[in-house]
Formats: sequence, structure tokens, C-alpha cells
Amino acid sequence: MDILAKRVRSINPSPTLAITAKANKMRAEGINIIGFGAGEPDFDTPDNIKDAAKRALDKGFTKYTPTSGIKELKEAICKKFKDDNALDYTPDEILVSCGAKHSLFNAIMALCDEGDEVIIPAPYWVSYPEMVGVAGGNSVILKTTAQSGFKVVPEQLKKAITPKTKIFILNSPSNPTGMVYAKEELIAIAAVLAQKNIYCISDEIYEKIIYGKNRHFSIASLEPKIKPLTITVNGVSKSYSMTGWRIGYMAGPKDIIQAMSNLQDHSTSNPTSISQKGALEALLGPQQYLLKMIKAFNERKDYIVKRLKSIPLISCLEPQGTFYVFPDISKVLNKEFNGKKIGESLTLADILLTQAKVAVVPGGVFGDDNFIRLSYATSMENITEGLNRIEAFIKQL
Ligand SMILES: Cc1ncc(COP(=O)(O)O)c(C=O)c1O
Repeated sequence: MDILAKRVRSINPSPTLAITAKANKMRAEGINIIGFGAGEPDFDTPDNIKDAAKRALDKGFTKYTPTSGIKELKEAICKKFKDDNALDYTPDEILVSCGAKHSLFNAIMALCDEGDEVIIPAPYWVSYPEMVGVAGGNSVILKTTAQSGFKVVPEQLKKAITPKTKIFILNSPSNPTGMVYAKEELIAIAAVLAQKNIYCISDEIYEKIIYGKNRHFSIASLEPKIKPLTITVNGVSKSYSMTGWRIGYMAGPKDIIQAMSNLQDHSTSNPTSISQKGALEALLGPQQYLLKMIKAFNERKDYIVKRLKSIPLISCLEPQGTFYVFPDISKVLNKEFNGKKIGESLTLADILLTQAKVAVVPGGVFGDDNFIRLSYATSMENITEGLNRIEAFIKQL
């Protein structure tokens, strides 16, 4: 008999962890490594949010809360959905969880049965297929290209749907590509999903980190028939620099929310009481901080894109949101290093680490080996030096 249950045996260890571990080891040896791997803003949590949490602690707000979250926070989330996303929800249609990752996990566990198919556009966030695997479902990966702006088009979606399709996972703005679906594109996707009665899990965690004229739309708000089929996931991690606080939330039909709340009842119970008070302040308090953060990300994005475009063999789309850029390195993969063809994004990431002393995430982990992901949630100084190193390395190939 196997020691481990089938569901955990199928989880893939993250190849990026190997790179991170190697980068950390090199740093410990005193080697200066520039890291482009961060998945979290490099800004501190705003003081008003920290103060709200301190007040909660001082007042002894340190006990269990209702599993689905405190009433005030659920009301603030309803207000946020109404004001930002033109979505009407009542508190019994909201579940607060321990980070958006937990929200997504709850949603997939609640909706995906053994053998169900879940359509995931690639490049995708690494955890989606793993969660589907744990739930016993089958991921159907829909490849998108830079030519289509890394977006799924309705025809492609229609073709991928089978009688077993239960869920479509949408992530806009997207990690890793930084692309944002336009309103009309979402309406077209919503029409396909609604016609075939397919659930949509819409991961909107990067909603606020968006540039220029791009606008974020919640798919649930765009078509009356899609709202009862949609679970809208969001959270405070990225927008308010609160990754460690672990507060995510989602909205959806009451019966599904209740089922997910039951699941959460028997796993984590409520998300941390103190963090909930912090999240309440994040949603209701002043939002100027956000503008400052986006301005800094925007400047870094402009710089990084300009530099990447000027490096031979590399091309890249300008991100419309998030703090990631996803350059095409397919031409670099055809080159040789030390007499051997580089071949794979993981090999390139490893060579960049050991030779250029720069840590990046290989695109293979996001389902497209022709790319690497660079996070610009790091200082302009680091970005400049890191790009100097990448450029010098690529030029000598
Ligand atoms: C696309 C996407 N969804 C969800 C999450 C999870 O966010 P949280 O930290 O709130 O669990 C992340 C974090 O990296 C992400 O990139």
C-alpha cells in the first residue's frame, strides 16, 4: 500500500523552487544575485492598515470569527464589488478565505468532480492545474500566443468544450503575461460559457494594478446569464501589499458559497481575525497609496520593456497590468552555450543564474517554454543592473 494518497502523489514539485533554492545558496555564499522572481509588491503594507490591525489586537479581537468572515468585512466587500465592478452581491454571497489562493482552492474543490474537465488558458498561473489535479479533474490547456495578446478567442474556447467541461478559469490581468481582456472580448467569452452552461472562475487578484487606458471588467457583470455561473475571486494581497496577511475573498451564487463555506468550516475555519480588520481598513480606507504604487510599477514597466526590446534575440509585449513582463526568448533557446544548445527555458534560467547572476522564472512552469517571466516588484536600481547583466550575457551568445 502506498504511504501517500493519490491526490498528493500527483502534485508536481515546483521547478522554480529549485532555482530559488540555488539563488539563495549563491547569495549565502556572498554572490550578488539580482532577483526578478518576486510574486509580491516590494512596498510595505500602508500604515493605516497596520494601525487597524494593531487596534484589533489591543482590543482583544483575537478569537474565532464566523468561518465566512466578519459581517463588516463582507459588507465592505459587497460595496467594493458594487463600486468597482458594477456587481450586486449580498453578504451571504461572499466567502472570505486565507488568501486568494485559498479562495481558488475552495472554488475548485467545490465545483470540480473526479473526471470533470477544466479549461485553463496558457500561459497560466502555476497553481491552477495543480489544484484541478488535487480535485481529481482534468486540465484542458488552451494555448494562446503573443500574436493574440495571450488571449483565448471564442472559437478556440468553443472547440475545447466537451460534454465533460465544467469550469473555465479566467485570469485578467494575467500572471504571467500581464495582459488584460477588453470588455468586448469578455462579453464574447461570457456568451460561449453561458450558452454551454460552463462555470467561470474569474481570478481578478491583479485588478488594481493596471496601466494607461486599460480597464478591468468583471466578466460576471457583463452578461446576465454569466453571473449565476461565475465565482469572482479577489483579495487584498497584491493591491495593498498584504501578501503575508492571507486574506482573499470571492463572490458567487449563495448555494455554492455556502458549500465552500462548509468546506472551509472543516479545514481552516475563519481567516485570521486581525487580518480581517486590516482588510476592512484596506477596502474602506484611503486609496492614495495604491496610486503611488501603480505609478512606480508603471515607470519600471516602461523602462524594463524599452530595455528588453533593445536586447538582440528578445522580444516582448508591453504588459497592460500586474508587475510581470513575459519576454519571448525562443531565439535564445536556439543558441548554444558551452557547446550545447540551450533548448529549454529552465536551462536558460539556470544559465542566467550561474553566469549572469540574475534569477528569472522559466516560462515552462506557466505552460509556455518560449518565454521567461521577470517581476518588476524590485527597485529601479536592481532592474537596471539586472538588465545590464542579461543584455551582456545575451550579446555574447
Ligand atoms: C494569478 C494569481 N492568483 C492568485 C494568487 C494568490 O494570491 P494570495 O496571495 O492572495 O493567495 C496569486 C499570487 O501569486 C496569483 O498570481
